[in-house]
Amino acid sequence: MIKDVQNEILKLKKEKDICILAHSYIGHEIIEIADFTGDSYALSVKAKSAPQKNILMVGVRFMAETCKILSPDKKVILAHSEAGCPMAEQMNKELIEKVKGMYEGATVVAYINTTAELKTVCDVCVTSSSAVKIVKQIENDKILFIPDCNLGSYVQEQIPDKKLILLPGGCPIHASVTEEEAIKAKEKYTNAALLVHPECIPDVVKHADFVGSTSAIMEYAKNSDNKEFIIGTEISIAEHLQYECPDKIFHYLSDKLVCRNMKKTTLCDVLNAMKGITGEEIILSDDTIVKARKCIDEMIRLGG
Ligand code: 13P
Ligand code: SF4
Repeated sequence: MIKDVQNEILKLKKEKDICILAHSYIGHEIIEIADFTGDSYALSVKAKSAPQKNILMVGVRFMAETCKILSPDKKVILAHSEAGCPMAEQMNKELIEKVKGMYEGATVVAYINTTAELKTVCDVCVTSSSAVKIVKQIENDKILFIPDCNLGSYVQEQIPDKKLILLPGGCPIHASVTEEEAIKAKEKYTNAALLVHPECIPDVVKHADFVGSTSAIMEYAKNSDNKEFIIGTEISIAEHLQYECPDKIFHYLSDKLVCRNMKKTTLCDVLNAMKGITGEEIILSDDTIVKARKCIDEMIRLGG
């Protein structure tokens, strides 16, 4: 049954000239039929170079918006119209314009998990895999880093010479993991390396053997000589790794690490979106695209 749906998707993909981009938090049966899978940074770069005229984003809304900003001439469809990232909705343009007034002269660095509209008033975007590299290259020492204060704290620790201004905000899923859970997991699985996403709170990150984006965590686990790992990010990453490395053992850091928004899109949603039955075409004004693109282009320039 799953194979039948997958085969129909593969057929339609060719017929309709659609590139399927899937974030690594998506289920395995979708990853198998995607043209490209990766973290937020890799997906945004891929969106720019994909030869197809149509892009189907299997992820959350800000990822589809980023594709549209980078490829305004392409038709970009979000596979499930209700798949949003709660963090991306936490801060809006009006709030950040006010905050900018309080910290005049600061460079505004926006995590890519923000709306297209908010990006229009920011200077440069970062992703979890590129944040440290990009912030290091910014000449200004005064940085307003939004919206994730946990990723911001991690970047601040790596670059103590700069002053990062942080606001309360972040991923409710990653931030729900407690230090106690990290300590208990390490005590339970004494031979396992703890790999953590920087959206987790600093008290969890400080116990990690490795800190990185979703793709960086996967690469680390695949290439490491270690045989056992505790995965401190969305549970799909542990599942994909278990498929790819059957000789290794992967544990979840916490069973709270489930992003319901990423899990909204099913294989059938992908098929129906390709048929035009469900899904949502991303429409952004020319003004939003031009202004938001500046900070995404800057991210690609500094992060490349
Ligand atoms: P990555 O940049 O690691 O893909 O993370 C995106 C995200 O939403 C993490 O929660
Ligand atoms: Fe947003 Fe967190 Fe889900 Fe990532 S895991 S998409 S940051 S809610």
